[in-house]
Amino acid sequence: MKEQTIDWKNLSFGYMKTDCNARIAYRDGAWGALEISESEYLNIHMAATCLHYGQEAFEGLKAFRGRDGKIRIFRLEANAARLQATCRGILMPELPTERFREACIEIVKRNERFVPPYESGASLYIRPLLIGTGAQIGVKPANEYLFILFVTPVGPYFKGGFSTNPYVVVRDFDRAAPLGTGTYKVGGNYAAGLAANKKAHDLGYMSEFYLDCKEKRYIDECGAANFFGIKNNTYITPLSSSILPSITNKSLMDLCEDLGIRVERRPIPVEELATMEEAGACGTAAVISPIERIDDVEQGKSYIISKDGKPGPLSTKLYNKLRAIQYGDEPDTHGWTTIVE
Ligand code: PLP
Ligand code: COI
Repeated sequence: MKEQTIDWKNLSFGYMKTDCNARIAYRDGAWGALEISESEYLNIHMAATCLHYGQEAFEGLKAFRGRDGKIRIFRLEANAARLQATCRGILMPELPTERFREACIEIVKRNERFVPPYESGASLYIRPLLIGTGAQIGVKPANEYLFILFVTPVGPYFKGGFSTNPYVVVRDFDRAAPLGTGTYKVGGNYAAGLAANKKAHDLGYMSEFYLDCKEKRYIDECGAANFFGIKNNTYITPLSSSILPSITNKSLMDLCEDLGIRVERRPIPVEELATMEEAGACGTAAVISPIERIDDVEQGKSYIISKDGKPGPLSTKLYNKLRAIQYGDEPDTHGWTTIVE
């Protein structure tokens, strides 16, 4: 696609073909050289473990073009480390951080014309994935793997960007079990959530809202994003063994400490929503998506978080601060960004 035909300001969170992607194969116990491909397709064995037994992991991070024209990748090392944790979780070989970095930088550079301009508020989404490609028919890990990394320019994940949205508690679905794969970024968790997500959309909500699957008492996640609530100058986010350790959430907790906002990471009973002054969903794709209300239809309750329908002051402050670091408008005191030279 020619760059002049891209409507940067109206990009949605969707796939667009770019110039090339990276591939690194794992064979005979070692990672090979980085290969650049112009193809959007893979040619893999029909008995590959990723197709049958879910040996599949992915990541999501973003690159931003600053006012200064520089491109910054946000929290590359943290995403590499989480991919390694996922690999340990489902017995795949870990891609070293240096190789992850090499692929990110090379592919962002080669697709520079797809990095949205500063003024658009859009970004380049980076999607690394790692799959078991070796053939197996018994349930066991593959002996061959493929790491792939592609990029695509994106706008906001939730329509409207930084504006409040309604969520619905789903009690008849779990996305991951307490000792299952919830802390890993594996495709199976998302397959498990598709029906709940469809139900929420069909009912007119932005997304489903998960409770812990053991007791259905505590808050887990907001669809494909972490949850935070704010009250009494305190940022409160769930401690749970079935949610993804969000890098955005971790960044927001660090920013809270910088801003003198207390942080609590603990189980949050769902009824505590009634006392929250602000709440939001957070993630790479969603950034911060402020919550308007959360309906618990089964319990006949509706927790109205935003009385005026607007994002709250601390959520707005955190959103602006995070975005300013990502776009290079404010100093990166935590060393979160990698400048693509
Ligand atoms: N929770 C789930 C289930 C996700 O898929 C994501 C997205 O990656 C997040 C939370 C947010 O994580 P991060 O901030 O690292 O993107
Ligand atoms: C996120 O980046 O916040 C996500 O949840 C990614 C999603 C498209 C799986």
